[in-house]
Amino acid sequence: MPSGKDKLAEFNSKLDTQVKSDLKKKITDSKKRALPSLGDYSFYKLVTDVEAIAKKLGLNPEAFKITQPPSKLKGTEDVDLAFNVGSVAREAGKDPEEVAKGLADEIKKLDSVNEVDVIPLKGGAFVNIKLNHASYFARVLDEIKKLSDDFGSFNEGDGKVVILDYSAPNIAKNMTAGHLRSTIIGYSLYKIYEAGGYVSFGINHLGDTGTTFGKVIYQYNKEMSERGDEFKKELETDPSGTLMHIYRKFGEESIKDPKAMDEARELSLKLEQGDDELIDLWFKIRDWSMECFYKVYDKIQIPFDGMMGESFYDDKMPAVTEDGLNLEVFKKGEEGAIVFPGQTLSDPSTGKENPNVMKTRVNKDDKAEDMVWKDEIIVKPNGGTLYLTRDVATIRYRAEELGAEKIIYAVGKEQRPHFMMLFNIVDQLDYCKLGKAVHVSFGHLNMEGKKMKTREGKVILLNDILDESISAAKELIQKRKTDLGESSDLNDEEQDIANKVGIGTVIYNDLRQDREKDIEFNPDAAKSLESGGCPYIQYTYCRLGSILKKAEDYSEKFEVPADISQVEKKMLVLLSMFPNTVSEAMRSNSPHKIANSLDQLTQLVNTFYQSQDVNKAPEPLKSFRVALVKACQQVIRNASDLLHFEMPERM
Ligand code: ARG
Repeated sequence: MPSGKDKLAEFNSKLDTQVKSDLKKKITDSKKRALPSLGDYSFYKLVTDVEAIAKKLGLNPEAFKITQPPSKLKGTEDVDLAFNVGSVAREAGKDPEEVAKGLADEIKKLDSVNEVDVIPLKGGAFVNIKLNHASYFARVLDEIKKLSDDFGSFNEGDGKVVILDYSAPNIAKNMTAGHLRSTIIGYSLYKIYEAGGYVSFGINHLGDTGTTFGKVIYQYNKEMSERGDEFKKELETDPSGTLMHIYRKFGEESIKDPKAMDEARELSLKLEQGDDELIDLWFKIRDWSMECFYKVYDKIQIPFDGMMGESFYDDKMPAVTEDGLNLEVFKKGEEGAIVFPGQTLSDPSTGKENPNVMKTRVNKDDKAEDMVWKDEIIVKPNGGTLYLTRDVATIRYRAEELGAEKIIYAVGKEQRPHFMMLFNIVDQLDYCKLGKAVHVSFGHLNMEGKKMKTREGKVILLNDILDESISAAKELIQKRKTDLGESSDLNDEEQDIANKVGIGTVIYNDLRQDREKDIEFNPDAAKSLESGGCPYIQYTYCRLGSILKKAEDYSEKFEVPADISQVEKKMLVLLSMFPNTVSEAMRSNSPHKIANSLDQLTQLVNTFYQSQDVNKAPEPLKSFRVALVKACQQVIRNASDLLHFEMPERM
């Protein structure tokens, strides 16, 4: 019989081998992808040309951004692209109108440009660009058609590895709304980095060790001895629910019996030290919880490359603390503890020094200036480790053994101090340079402005959120059916559509908003076809499909007609900007930039098909419009794929 410790070691070593070979395969496969470079895209070329002109004129190209003209700006109906030179002129200490004119004279000469004019306004001036439609638009349509699913992707990452740390719920606890946001944001970034030519590797850093476990095991033993058979039955019928229940019960009991907490701590230390029986129980409890987490993962269809929880690093921590002591990054603290001494940290996101993270108040109402340094515990006097210790070992593994070029943590904003400390520690230990690991933080998911709770005050289970959204989507479909005089029963296909709409709504509602903000969950959102929501995008996509179904006798070869409408021009310009949008979303770890562009596109598409007929149009207009519809369909699909929600073919 192998001991518990051997079993765990074997489990972890298998995991290690598996993960490394999967990663190796992904790297090999990525070499087969022939992605274009950003510089091959028409819009990118135009932007770099304009930036080069600015540089030549002694201006800072980072101080302006070329976009579609703001709708408020008068006289820009037929302007394709515009930018304000206000800040670039201010930076250079020059008159904005002069600057704009200087730029305009040069931009005019570019191949893809037809006309440029300047509109002076208070404190700045706009440079307005009209493109050479025939050539620019034909090129864009061609790019989309040729690259199809790869339109918007580019080879910048060159097969380098990005590790994405997302979801990471805690075993024997409920998966929270925060874990859902992490899963959604993390996986979207996974896709975005993949589009940027990186090899994305997603790890679920499960909270599968520590005092939570001690608490659950304590209560488990208690229930077993007090009401064995009944408890066993409960575990058999609903293992994960029962675990959550006993975890909560421990909370109540430890208030009555303070010794319970000490015993729980004792148990978790025993587990960390490799107690046979506890390790066996640990395996069972972990499996039971995973069953519950997978209900959510299966529903939102989000995969992981590695399920490596905190326990995976149990045997990797001694080496890390040794390094820390040798390099004098850590020091011996009171009662034999090992600590990271209180100090001013660098904030990797701003590059500024932050003197406050590691300070603490002695008395509750001490002023900021009375705060004192606080050492952070790395190893407790009893030899136990902490969340932070495990994260230090984790980063080392990811950077050194998995060869990560970048490590992205999609974790709630409350953990900002934790990550700042972590990144400073691993920088000093020389495991991972500052800036290479990034905390992609996000706000809360609320319902009616409050943390999500049911009426009885219980935390809403995530599965319920998803189910509520799916049933709202069902109502939407049922209403459409009864409006058409059909029965309201959903067949399998309609059920599948309801899933795509319901789940898509939860995902899109998250990703369309700036992640740093607190967001609202609206259980009815999946019922609404109003613009700005997911069903609107899905519905628009289906409309394009039905237009194409009816299209006959068009040609793949055509010239872009000179008299295309304003909305068609706007659609084409926006389509051409998509690769840049993806690149900006990647650089700022902000999926909402893609979501916003998708939202704009679908609104334009709606205006388009309400005002322009595709199939009755004369040639060459018809062939052009068919190509435009196909291009929009493709880009909507590519964008929604990066945001990870699905398009039904019919709605
Ligand atoms: N389990 C943690 C929590 O629920 C999140 C872990 C995030 N990832 C990490 N490497 N620290 O708060």
